[in-house]
Amino acid sequence: MIKVIICKDYQDVSDKAAEIMLDVVKNNPEAVLGLATGSSPIGLYQRMIKDHKENGTSYAEITTFNLDEYIGLDRDHSQSYYTFMHENLFNHINMKEENINIPSTQGSDMQANCDAYNEKLAKYQIDLQLLGIGSNGHLAFNEPGTPFDSVTQVVDLVESTIKDNARFFDYDMSKVPTQSITMGIKNIMDAKRILLVASGKNKADAIFKTVNGEVSTDCPASILQKHPDVTIVVDEEAASLL
Ligand code: GLP
Repeated sequence: MIKVIICKDYQDVSDKAAEIMLDVVKNNPEAVLGLATGSSPIGLYQRMIKDHKENGTSYAEITTFNLDEYIGLDRDHSQSYYTFMHENLFNHINMKEENINIPSTQGSDMQANCDAYNEKLAKYQIDLQLLGIGSNGHLAFNEPGTPFDSVTQVVDLVESTIKDNARFFDYDMSKVPTQSITMGIKNIMDAKRILLVASGKNKADAIFKTVNGEVSTDCPASILQKHPDVTIVVDEEAASLL
């Protein structure tokens, strides 16, 4: 079941999302969180950091799993999701490095990296999975056409995603990695609860299809209609077609 919360703007979306996330962390200091990258969660992460500094909310026993990572970038590359997560969240709260899980794309055996991530995921259940959404309805890097029973795997990024993400690579599409390792749709659907955040006009079509469209691999996020506990927090622009 999808519950939609429409907020005025990005700041309000981040406030509401932080309320939901912090409620989980404060009620269960050992919670397992599924985390996402992209511009959408940054405001939420800033509020988690502020709350940690002001109220001392502890992440010492929290475990995190990130959705995805580019293939072809060093872990310490400025645009790797490893770097993103450390700069935007982990470096500013008291997470233990050993409790942080991000798919590794290092080395030459990507299948072994995927297998290792799936094995680790199988030992946990994610209490709250945070998601953004691609303008084409992708979740993590599960592009349209991805089977709903997919687990962590190597995927090719479609052209619209490479274009969307070029802003992080000096607007040069040739610098954007073309592949990634991503958690699959099944891994995402296994979470107890899902929180999706989106803002801006370019997400309106994807949000409409997610909430009101038919459940189809053409819009990967439409599968969320089949999950028992999904909250979508959007701004007015992203909600404009609902
Ligand atoms: C990337 C990520 C997704 C994210 C999407 C939207 O492709 N792999 O997890 O949801 O972009 O990003 P943004 O929030 O920047 O619009």
